[in-house]
Amino acid sequence: MKALVLSGGKGTRLRPLTFTTAKQLIPIANKPILGYVLDPISNAGITDVGVIIAPETGQEVKNYVKDGSSWNIKVTYLLQEPLGLAHAVKTARNFLGDDDFIMYLGDNLIGKGVNALIEKFKNEDLAALILLKEVEDPTRFGIAVLDSKGNVVRVVEKPKNPPTNLALVGIYLFSPEIHKAIDKIKPSWRGELEITDAIQELINQGYKVKAEKLETWWLDTGKKDDILYANAKILDEYIKEEMCGEAQESKIEGRVSIQRGAKIINSTIRGPSIIGAECIIENSFIGPYTSIGNNTVIIDSSIEYSVILDNAFVKEIEKLEESLIGRNVRVIKNQKRNTLKLHTGDYSEVEI
Ligand code: G1P
Repeated sequence: MKALVLSGGKGTRLRPLTFTTAKQLIPIANKPILGYVLDPISNAGITDVGVIIAPETGQEVKNYVKDGSSWNIKVTYLLQEPLGLAHAVKTARNFLGDDDFIMYLGDNLIGKGVNALIEKFKNEDLAALILLKEVEDPTRFGIAVLDSKGNVVRVVEKPKNPPTNLALVGIYLFSPEIHKAIDKIKPSWRGELEITDAIQELINQGYKVKAEKLETWWLDTGKKDDILYANAKILDEYIKEEMCGEAQESKIEGRVSIQRGAKIINSTIRGPSIIGAECIIENSFIGPYTSIGNNTVIIDSSIEYSVILDNAFVKEIEKLEESLIGRNVRVIKNQKRNTLKLHTGDYSEVEI
């Protein structure tokens, strides 16, 4: 079995961060989302991994994944214009050959591995196995209809009148039959070759397509709040107590990971939280559920349930909560009362 990881696309929903970063590289608990996608693939023993990249952000993805040796995988990069998920599979046709494969969208995070899913796919000799999760707004996703035996009888992309609330999670298992189905479909109203249409084509041709329901959490990198939620979940599940920096006159409570060279001075850090390498935290209160990137400086401030990326500077901010702050951002208190001075990038969001 091979893996196809999709790490292209434009990431418009996460602007402004995605003006400078591929959405798959946005860090959750200081590790890019794509890392959490490659981990379960590697844990499933898959070694041959194709990574779809886009012209604009491909180099950055390559700089992170390199040859894949950190995950014990062999990576083949495949350049694609963003013309849909089925188009990505088409682009990877030579790489995939006649093998079964798992397709994993590089901005999807789930709270468990994929081994059981792969087992089911193999044991039941399926043409496709999809993963489903109940969602509140089914118009934003691919949606599936099942029969009483768990067979998928219909799939539809972003329906106006959703027949169910079962969304397709961005993790799919396919046999090589999918390639013939993709050859039959036409671009959708949004001009993309939809994988959902290809799955429907498999069903129409009488192939066995089944679904598994995801019982754990799922992040489809949508907006700021989704990132904050995933950050809290990952911190909860993965963060271990670790002290690779130094703390003076400070309280470190619960599971807090302090990375190399970070200095905590006269502050309280409440876990689960992570403080990146070479950070300086002074006279501040950080956490819980907070990730601070590398080289960030926080002085005289209090930050909770937030993600702050690298090289940021926060000073004299009494209560920063539910915030996602990009690289090299400065947030400082203005000494003049009742005055706000903003210098925000395109698509920034400021809540006062
Ligand atoms: C894509 C798929 C959709 C699926 C979703 C999961 O949507 O087309 O069926 O539910 O990924 O992340 P898109 O991200 O292109 O809107």
